[in-house]
Amino acid sequence: MGKIHGSGYPERESTLERIKAIRQDIGKDLLIFSHFYQDDDIVELADFVGDSLQLAHIASEKQDAPYIIFCSVSFMAEMAKILCSPKQEVLSPAPKARCPLAEMAHIHDVEVLWKGLLASGEEFIPVVYVNSTAEIKAFCGKNGGTVCTSSNAKKVFEWVFGKGKKLLFFPDENLGRNTSYSLGIRDEEIKTLDPKGDKGLSDLGKVKVLLWKGFCYVHTRFLKTQIEKLKNTHDGLKVIVHPECPPEVCAVSDLFGSTSFIKKTIEEAPSGSKWAVGTEWNFVNRLSKNNPDKTVIPILESRCNEMAQVTPERLLEVLEGIARGELTGRVTVSDEIADGARVGLKRMLEIA
Ligand code: 13P
Ligand code: SF4
Repeated sequence: MGKIHGSGYPERESTLERIKAIRQDIGKDLLIFSHFYQDDDIVELADFVGDSLQLAHIASEKQDAPYIIFCSVSFMAEMAKILCSPKQEVLSPAPKARCPLAEMAHIHDVEVLWKGLLASGEEFIPVVYVNSTAEIKAFCGKNGGTVCTSSNAKKVFEWVFGKGKKLLFFPDENLGRNTSYSLGIRDEEIKTLDPKGDKGLSDLGKVKVLLWKGFCYVHTRFLKTQIEKLKNTHDGLKVIVHPECPPEVCAVSDLFGSTSFIKKTIEEAPSGSKWAVGTEWNFVNRLSKNNPDKTVIPILESRCNEMAQVTPERLLEVLEGIARGELTGRVTVSDEIADGARVGLKRMLEIA
């Protein structure tokens, strides 16, 4: 696959050199965060690279640097803005890069559903996937709920059930269903709602988990048939996928888990082992390069177009802005929303 860094594209090389020079001038006043799904050039420039949970913990701890540049989609940059100190500026190289899954739950629809649930007499706790707007995180914070990521979903679900309550989870149906199955919850105890149509609020007696009908287009491209074909053609191949994949894909895989789980599993796997991985392609490609003693292939080349909107050229523009004293890509969240969302996020960080 075409890798631009170090491959003789002079414009990209000079952009990277300029980034490094400005970065050095700004020094300790700046931290660059990158999600695992970013391109290698961005990952190599970052101070911290991780999954959304790791980056949330770091944002809540590193409160000294006046500037944070967050290389990812908008919900993660907003999360950092909510968790860092009010004195810190969070800047995004691609403010318009919005995760489509995060846009699938609208606050109005959630509030209508919640009213119906309150009227039903059943007691639910709302939990939202970190891939969501700040408004929805605030809704969960204010209504006794919390946030989860793919790394801690199981612990957060257990926290809800430990309180003897039912769970309303949104917007990713697959993460909700896969996590429920891993806790032994059966199909008849799970109900999926189409927020635009059937509100489905009758007959909730047996329901333990109510799911929203949202999905990630990058992870729903992986199919059971692709995995079966790979297993039939590669002897000894193990398959590991992200829990945003459909349940039938997780069922035929050997393992499923968050990006940090996938990374750790492959790093700790025996030399010579063979892996097919079902998650974003940049990350799978990097796993393959960083584990040369193993075979690591993507199930399919599935890329996140929104993560890809962060480029070295856009990162350079933000850095040049800092150097000139003119901030671009400023991430802002209103105080009211940030306060509510912080309650939900801090509750999550305490749980896991
Ligand atoms: P993590 O699973 O790394 O938190 O990633 C979030 C995401 O957007 C997955 O598609
Ligand atoms: Fe959103 Fe999917 Fe991209 Fe993750 S991979 S940011 S869930 S579209």
